Amino acid sequence: MTVTIVGSQLGDEGKGALVDLWGGEADVVVRYQGGDNAGHTVVEGGEEYKLSLVPSGAVRGKVGVLGNGCVVNPLTLFDEIDALRGRGLDPDVRVAKRAHVILPYHRVLDGIEEDAKADSGVKVGTTGRGIGPTYEDKVGRRGVRVGDLLDPEVLRDRLEYVVPQKRALIEEVYGLEAGEECDVDALHEEYAEYGRRLAEEGMIVGGSDFLHRRLEAGDDLMFEGAQGTLIDIDHGNYPYVTSSNPTAGGAATGSGVGPTVVGRGEVVGIVKAYLSRVGEGPLPTELDGDERDEELADYIREKGGEFGTVTGRPRRIGWLDVPMLRHAARVSGFTGIAVNHLDVLAGLDEVKVGHAYELDGEERLTVPATTERWGDCEPVLKEFEPWPEVDWGEVAAEGYDAVPEAAREYLDYVSDEVGAPVYAVGIGPGRSQTVELIDPFDA
Ligand code: GDP
Ligand code: IMO
Ligand code: MG
Repeated sequence: MTVTIVGSQLGDEGKGALVDLWGGEADVVVRYQGGDNAGHTVVEGGEEYKLSLVPSGAVRGKVGVLGNGCVVNPLTLFDEIDALRGRGLDPDVRVAKRAHVILPYHRVLDGIEEDAKADSGVKVGTTGRGIGPTYEDKVGRRGVRVGDLLDPEVLRDRLEYVVPQKRALIEEVYGLEAGEECDVDALHEEYAEYGRRLAEEGMIVGGSDFLHRRLEAGDDLMFEGAQGTLIDIDHGNYPYVTSSNPTAGGAATGSGVGPTVVGRGEVVGIVKAYLSRVGEGPLPTELDGDERDEELADYIREKGGEFGTVTGRPRRIGWLDVPMLRHAARVSGFTGIAVNHLDVLAGLDEVKVGHAYELDGEERLTVPATTERWGDCEPVLKEFEPWPEVDWGEVAAEGYDAVPEAAREYLDYVSDEVGAPVYAVGIGPGRSQTVELIDPFDA
């Protein structure tokens, strides 16, 4: 069977922690979109791992696959694998031949375009990893795929076609000077070498073929979504989005496993008990109204460690946004949810959620399709009884019944609103600090 893990909000919901928890039962963990813009944290045995491209199952020694829907920077992939090896892990990562390659000019153009947008109010606040420009080339049918790195002649043809276009873009459109990122010979040498290393280490696979063979052999797959629903290129708040489909449909198109197979499995939405956002775009429940709000946001940011894993930027903070969750549950068809960071909200004087929005004097229960309309939404807040700070170690040992009653009421409310049961509750970053109610592999 398959279990798909999807971010319900704006990324950084704690997906890595759940992939680590449940990945113990999977045989293969598959990333189906995104690239090294992701930063997934696994905390186990006193060690903290921040994973960008290596699927989080690596901490459990599981085979990881980067599916065709991913964009792969071989340089950061090898750096990450080497760093993990240095820490005693032995990541077994396979890369689909159909996945696209992030080249140096993609990163350069990511930065140039963000700078060009800086004064216009449409800056996205990207991670600068070249994600958008690489997906642009994929859709524009001028990309370089992992399979192309294995054939020096094909690689040269691809580069000779595309690199002059990048040079013209940098020099003639943006009026800047192109550098090494547009040197065909140097790129060819470096990337053909990555191809050799990928092949030598047995990392290249036909993604769909590989996964089908594993399914036929009775293996269980876990799909590890990166990013989140509201930064999905189709279902997010365009243009403040990433350039792929983190929502569950992406698991099928981005891996070559059919939607019926993914749909027969479980789709678990990962929810942070409040909101965090890195990058630009609206956030109706943002805690930024007055000084008191800002103090509360600072408190949550510090307590929750809300600083970007990839970029170190402080994350914006808001109350849980329930219209966002209703939207996420519909788009991905959640069969269950996991709610993280309950411990971070413990001990507050007040706990609120955005239950609905008010827009043009009317109440709305889901997210408007345009970002401008979303920006006009005022949250209709609902107050909950706060829960006290408790000994979370004890809660972890005793299980769900030991979760403070007020927190359980909060969880029941969220579950009712999204129409899916709570499978797990996060009360701290570590593997043992997740209280499991339902194991999706047994659901
Ligand atoms: P991901 O991108 O969705 O995997 O999430 P990140 O790793 O970027 O951010 C989540 C952060 O919260 C990480 O530092 C995790 O270790 C941490 N975390 C995950 N679940 C919990 C939780 O339930 N409580 C607390 N306090 N931290 C958590
Ligand atoms: P994980 O998997 C949070 C955001 C960026 C920016 C927008 C586009 O750790 O949850 P990109 O570099 O992808 O073109 O940036 O998306 N973003 C994330 N925010 N978590 C992530 O990943 C993100 N990956 C990208 O901040 O707003
Ligand atoms: Mg993250």
